[in-house]
Amino acid sequence: MLSVVGARPQFVKLAPVAAAFAATGTARPAGTTDSLGSPAIEHVIVHTGQHYDALMSDAFFADLHIPAPDVHLGVGSGSHGVQTGAMLAAMDDVLTTHSPDWVLVYGDTNSTLAGAVSAVKLHLPVAHLEAGLRSFNRRMPEEHNRVLTDHAADLLLAPTLVAMDHLAAEGLAARARLVGDVMTDVCFLVRDTVRDAPADLPDGVDADAPYVVATIHRADNTDDPARLAAIVGALTRVPAPVVLLAHPRLRARASEFGIDLTRGSVHASDPLPYPQMVRAVLGAAGVVTDSGGLQKEAFLLGTPCTTVRTETEWTETLDGGWNILDPDLTQVAEVAVRAVPPGAQAMPYGDGKAAHRVAEELLATRA
Ligand code: UD1
Repeated sequence: MLSVVGARPQFVKLAPVAAAFAATGTARPAGTTDSLGSPAIEHVIVHTGQHYDALMSDAFFADLHIPAPDVHLGVGSGSHGVQTGAMLAAMDDVLTTHSPDWVLVYGDTNSTLAGAVSAVKLHLPVAHLEAGLRSFNRRMPEEHNRVLTDHAADLLLAPTLVAMDHLAAEGLAARARLVGDVMTDVCFLVRDTVRDAPADLPDGVDADAPYVVATIHRADNTDDPARLAAIVGALTRVPAPVVLLAHPRLRARASEFGIDLTRGSVHASDPLPYPQMVRAVLGAAGVVTDSGGLQKEAFLLGTPCTTVRTETEWTETLDGGWNILDPDLTQVAEVAVRAVPPGAQAMPYGDGKAAHRVAEELLATRA
């Protein structure tokens, strides 16, 4: 197997998958009914270099015990075409050298698309993990990446029934398998290790009083000065401290536009390593975000979320009011801190064993 990753959320998804691959050839994992046991999966990890800051990349490999990448393309940042093109140009040699049984691509970033396109051009089988997610918002670069990757790939590993339905609606049912959500695997595992640890919050934020965790990084939210000012302004009015974990793009745009990120309720700080992020969300009264993964992590950790977007790919999080969409910023100051919805929470994202199903599917269909 050869995994192609490059951006922060992909390292999170890679962690349980790499562990499940490493477990093949050894004991059968408890609770699975699979045929793992033999043969062992040889796993090559290719890091495109899309994310390169230590906090955006190395920290995830260290904290989530992911083996170091075998190949690092060092591509870095650039416009979509430049970045994706540089990855494509570098991938041919890598794939030709390793000639893997499967090329596994993750999620919806430019690294996903580049990995998929280079593999199909070389007639290598491609599996897409987190297949079938759709926002139906064609302004999102991730939506192009998802649709193009799903239609190129040979095996579509879907996280939810909703994703399976989207694939069926696009004529892709025959290639689709429901495996569950691997981010749930890692989220639950990490939650259980950090539950008793103190939350790592900026000075002035009391972990024992209500606080909100916020992230904003999408170009649609950061790249227009009026839009970014409105979002930060709304966060300043939240009636509890807001820990704003600032992606490099947010910092850069705010500084360019002269928008001060630390004022009112808002305390801006660097992105957190994954375990600290899980701990911070677990203890938070609310999450405000435009991230896909964080909406779902908030749901899994039992924290109400307010999403600064017109739609979500993780529509299950909207049920019961766990997640509220507030693209126009009319509600966020009032609803960012709100009570947990009453009643039992649905569990649409699987049982935390999705990565083993991924390994099973790939082994079962290995040439
Ligand atoms: C990418 C993904 C997005 C995902 C996000 C997670 C695409 C199209 N988007 O968006 O789906 O939610 O990762 O974070 O692939 N930068 C740094 N250091 C880094 C990485 C980026 O300073 O280590 C800055 C650069 O200015 C860069 C900008 O952030 O131009 C954007 O990075 P990029 O990788 O293009 O996209 P993300 O916004 O991170």
